[in-house]
Amino acid sequence: MNQTITPRSRVLSGMRPTGRLHLGHYHGVLKNWVRLQHQHDCFFFVVDWHALTTHYEDPGIIPASVWEMVIDWLAAGVDPQRATLFVQSHVPEHAELHLLLSMLTPLGWLERVPSYKDQQERLKEKDLATYGFLGYPLLQSADILIYRAAQVPVGEDQVAHVELTREIARRFNHLYGREPGFEEQARQAAKKMGKKQDKAFERMRRAYQEQGDGEALLAGRRLLETQQNIGAADRERLLGYLEGGGRAILVEPQPLLTQASKMPGLDGQKMSKSYGNTLSLRESPETIETLLKRMPTDTNRVRRTDPGDPNRCPVWQLHQVYSDEQVQAWVQEGCRSAGIGCLECKAPVIEAVLQELKPMQARAAEFEAQPERVREIVEAGSQRAREVAAETMREVRQVMALDY
Ligand code: TRP
Ligand code: SF4
Repeated sequence: MNQTITPRSRVLSGMRPTGRLHLGHYHGVLKNWVRLQHQHDCFFFVVDWHALTTHYEDPGIIPASVWEMVIDWLAAGVDPQRATLFVQSHVPEHAELHLLLSMLTPLGWLERVPSYKDQQERLKEKDLATYGFLGYPLLQSADILIYRAAQVPVGEDQVAHVELTREIARRFNHLYGREPGFEEQARQAAKKMGKKQDKAFERMRRAYQEQGDGEALLAGRRLLETQQNIGAADRERLLGYLEGGGRAILVEPQPLLTQASKMPGLDGQKMSKSYGNTLSLRESPETIETLLKRMPTDTNRVRRTDPGDPNRCPVWQLHQVYSDEQVQAWVQEGCRSAGIGCLECKAPVIEAVLQELKPMQARAAEFEAQPERVREIVEAGSQRAREVAAETMREVRQVMALDY
């Protein structure tokens, strides 16, 4: 397909404001965002309202966490020229859509979401038997649907939320997207695209509906976005026709599963703040060096002359993230034969981590020195987000008979 006329499909993802980020976030999420921003129309945002569902008793910590986190996004290379960066609460339309969707969301759908009971169990010290917490995944659905996002990069734990979002979109379109003579209207609309496009579209529609070809669905959506000759209502009819439903006022998103990060924490477990085993992106080089030098190794390797086993050593996991084959072979050989010492073995990973963080820390320092610039970036992004959200809301209000 011609790249110049193909608009980039929309990708949207949100992150809870957790303050400064660490290398686990970088390898798990941010690196992926940086890659995606070159291929898609990316919207990345801070979900501060979602943070309130679990921190309503101490909201005071949220604002600083938001700004620290955005600085780390920018430091990691998320580029405000390429991606739209914003804060959820700066786009109040999310709350309006959440409210309207709540009218048609069966309680059972929310109670069945696995994270609901899991999190209540895990965060026992908090009272999460609240209306807001039950609505967490529905607010997330509103976040996604309001931008008509095609793809949502998320980890495994969030796939159920995207699935719920798809069900909500389907229910909404079923309730409000039906109209008499829908198929005929859709066919008429398809003709307006011209013979060639009409045929291509029909092929994609068949491939999706008859063979469940997800690529064809995405291609069909992209094709519709390029059409100048059709208005918003026809576009929705064609979208719905493509997907096999009524008019698609809200678009069903696909989850884009993010590979779990292979980045281990300083103790070899998954890197996570709650394990106290993180290396934060803005940690000083001296501290990083100290922490990595102190990192435990194969516990059977007590003396320098004892041979070791990389498979029992968290440092080996770091080599798998940072080292090329040659260095990895050197580790395997040297460790098993006691040919190298553990500090020697750590040297290349220490170097690699420092090199990786260097440009990020330089960028972070720049933004730390100009907090007003960070605010401007988020304000401009929120403005753009509000424009897109407002357009969806106009139609949502209209089909829900709220435009009087
Ligand atoms: N629930 C997500 C998480 O905990 C954050 C989130 C909120 C989100 N709204 C979203 C992610 C919309 C993707 C899209 O990670
Ligand atoms: Fe771990 Fe390397 Fe020491 Fe082997 S030599 S135990 S891989 S740090």
